[in-house]
Amino acid sequence: MELVFATNNAHKLNEVRAITGARFSIKSLKELGCYDEIPETGDTLIANALEKVDYIHNKFHCNCFADDTGLEIEALNGKPGVYSARYAGEHCSFKDNIEKVLREMQGVTHRKACFTTVIALILNETCYLFEGRIDGEITESERGTNGFGYDPIFKPVGYEITFAEMTDAEKNSISHRALATKKLNDFLQTCPILK
Ligand code: IMP
Repeated sequence: MELVFATNNAHKLNEVRAITGARFSIKSLKELGCYDEIPETGDTLIANALEKVDYIHNKFHCNCFADDTGLEIEALNGKPGVYSARYAGEHCSFKDNIEKVLREMQGVTHRKACFTTVIALILNETCYLFEGRIDGEITESERGTNGFGYDPIFKPVGYEITFAEMTDAEKNSISHRALATKKLNDFLQTCPILK
């Protein structure tokens, strides 16, 4: 069965394809022939995931899903949250975002944070939501070079290393996105309308 994932991020596509396996053919936006800048104007992760999946569904009338992720830091009242990608400004880099967070967290002892991913799926005209969350803390400085985004400053609970010090396989076995994707996959594998 074919499902469109509203992304062109190769890292995310690999992670999702590894979990959903051969029964599902996961197509990217490029493979669908969609090169649009998909709007992301919501002020929650759910609103953004729904906005993206609705856009693709309305335009292409296919079964599809979209995700949205945010890093919430307790001492910053949940920031950067839904604005994680552009926290340091419109065209900022991952490094700019990390530097801004470390600056704001300077001298702060309460460093608890979590990553949350929301996946919105539209299957046969019905919408479903899946969520994955991992708790951890913000380190005092950057550690590690793997992964992307805030990985060098996020240390999951129960680990002494950051996401960026883990192998891809290690991170992908525990990450927020993996947890949400596993829920999506469990649903797809057992969904009566797909049997
Ligand atoms: P997106 O909704 O998946 O595009 O994520 C929004 C932003 O959150 C990204 O631009 C990254 O800065 C950050 N982010 C998402 N997933 C991760 C992750 O697995 N590790 C670190 N940062 C992430």
